[in-house]
Amino acid sequence: MNKVFFGIALLVLTGCGTSRDYTPAADASGEQIFSTACTECHKPVSANVAMALSEKTANKDALIKKFQTGSMRMPAFKNIQGESANRLADYILANSQVNK
Ligand code: HEC
Repeated sequence: MNKVFFGIALLVLTGCGTSRDYTPAADASGEQIFSTACTECHKPVSANVAMALSEKTANKDALIKKFQTGSMRMPAFKNIQGESANRLADYILANSQVNK
């Protein structure tokens, strides 16, 4: 019983405006970073589609800002920076569908 409560508390805590310490390996590809850090919440839409993006997020600047700063419901990934951030954003843009 206690375990269940702890699990729920953990889910609420991690989902809500927190940040993650995950740091990608220097040579990690965008796909590797996505499958390590993001698929826990963002299950790929299909074999070829990693995410469904809204129109306003479907550009590199908005994407990088989104995963570096997070939101109420998404943790911030402050350690995905520089080349890794570039690779992750490129991967998502190349493998996502945009909802109009
Ligand atoms: C703990 C769960 C969680 C993790 C881990 C997570 N996200 Fe999210 N993400 C969310 C939730 C919930 C939303 C919807 C609410 C929002 O837009 O803030 C979201 C929304 C987004 C959006 C906006 C989509 C759109 O266009 O509407 C992007 C982009 C995104 N996430 C990218 C990422 C990336 C990249 C990673 C990995 C580095 C990641 N997320 C990891 C929970 C998560």
